[in-house]
Amino acid sequence: MRVVDGVGRAGLKVLQVAAEAVPLVKTGGLADVVGALPDALARTGVHSRLLLPGFPAVKAAFTGARLVATLPCPWTGEAPQLMAGRLKPFGDAPAYMVVAPDLYERPGGPYSDPSGAAWADNHRRFAPLAWAARALARGADRAWQPDVVHAHDWHAGLAPAALSHAGLTVASVMTIHNLAYQGLFPAQTFLELDLPAAAWDVNGVEFWGQVSFMKAGLHHAQAISTVSPTYAREILDPAMGCGLDGVLRAHPGGVAGILNGVDYRVWHPATDPLIPHRFDARQLEGKALCKAALQQAHGLVVRPDAMLMAVVSRLTSQKGLDLLLQVLPQALEHGAQMVVLGQGDAQLEAGFAAAAQRYPGALVLLRAHDEALAHQLFAAADVVLVPSRFEPCGLTQLYAMAYGALPLVHDVGGLADTVQDATLEALEEDEATGFAFHRFEPADLQAALRRAHLLWRRPAQWAQVQQRAMAQRFDWDRAAQGYVALYEQALSRLTAAPAPV
Ligand code: ADP
Ligand code: GLC
Repeated sequence: MRVVDGVGRAGLKVLQVAAEAVPLVKTGGLADVVGALPDALARTGVHSRLLLPGFPAVKAAFTGARLVATLPCPWTGEAPQLMAGRLKPFGDAPAYMVVAPDLYERPGGPYSDPSGAAWADNHRRFAPLAWAARALARGADRAWQPDVVHAHDWHAGLAPAALSHAGLTVASVMTIHNLAYQGLFPAQTFLELDLPAAAWDVNGVEFWGQVSFMKAGLHHAQAISTVSPTYAREILDPAMGCGLDGVLRAHPGGVAGILNGVDYRVWHPATDPLIPHRFDARQLEGKALCKAALQQAHGLVVRPDAMLMAVVSRLTSQKGLDLLLQVLPQALEHGAQMVVLGQGDAQLEAGFAAAAQRYPGALVLLRAHDEALAHQLFAAADVVLVPSRFEPCGLTQLYAMAYGALPLVHDVGGLADTVQDATLEALEEDEATGFAFHRFEPADLQAALRRAHLLWRRPAQWAQVQQRAMAQRFDWDRAAQGYVALYEQALSRLTAAPAPV
């Protein structure tokens, strides 16, 4: 019998199943989290191993690959293979990948083709992660067998279902990084998922006549978490539950809200190799130099007294940047400047491109996904704008604070949990770390921008808020403790009552 309480945590073995991990594959914050979590868990005595799709960058970083299992192939083609080996960028840590050249070695992104459209066979591309997790849970690798399978987002959502239908005594945990992406596929794809017919059920993978990978994970996992306490509450409500609030409310374990951390080994202005001048809270000259360098490089007027705002974001409706487009004249008052780094939605790209023409020397659009530029923007900026409609956690506001830029955010989800608005009271108590607006309306965003402009003209108060922001610590160690507790909870729920099938 497994020991699960406290004493059992040292040596607990957890398989982390995900589609992205820094520094190999990244489209967003999921990759930052999956890249940082294994190390933080290791410091608590939990051994975790990553299981990733064999994208070219993953294959290139994988050494000593050995075949563990040939996975099902319910379609005509080459069967995906589960390989064990080591991942170079993770200090040669043991890891797993699914090798399937037909599925993963294509031009474009991890989820979409070069035009940005989702790959039509995404159910085939991500189901093998679940089969690989099931094979490992069954003991396919004699060297290592997980106690817990931790599935991240819909890409891994089929894993808890596959485990529970195989009747295995390995617990599963499902973490929602973004409930808006659910992995929905036409009903007939169910036949290619290698699950028993019983899985096609409203209490299973079926969601309004479609297959839902996310629902499969939520229904079958012994424990569910998401990436901030506020988002954990918000998604229980039909208004923000993306149709899955009922499934979440019905889960016996509830939804834990474990706030993401920052990997300060990667995101620290005193050691960051990607920024031109290093600095810290006591020595801010380097920040001024980073700002001047950025202004110079991108054709902005080089003025230290111009408030420089930055956006580092996927350009999607989630991020609320359409609201920002509506208030640009106010945002750019008093000689303020803005740099937008992002790509995605054609309409948003066009909106910012047009604005860059309208405000030459004041607004720049960098239409790219560029890691080094992202670091340089945080280092240079005075304000980082995150007006998201919803935000499960959000990492850019945390990076902003670490680099002495004040975040200006819509107070939802993780943004509400991490940014303290510079109200008069918060300033008086020396608690302010940024700016927040409540209603998702142009007038509210405008009012927050106005407060930012006003504070900018009071350098001593600005410096106080900046110091408070830079002193914030969002440590992975705290988050790792939360996950350990969740793993234990999942294991005890599994032993108390087998997973619902
Ligand atoms: P999400 O995961 O919803 O995109 P997060 O704030 O959690 O939002 O994480 C975004 C991550 O992606 C951060 O690491 C951020 O720096 C990075 N990022 C977003 N857009 C870009 C971009 N255009 N170029 C480089 N990095 C980007
Ligand atoms: C998702 C969310 C973001 C979160 C990230 C990492 O992409 O949109 O808010 O920070 O996952 O958990």
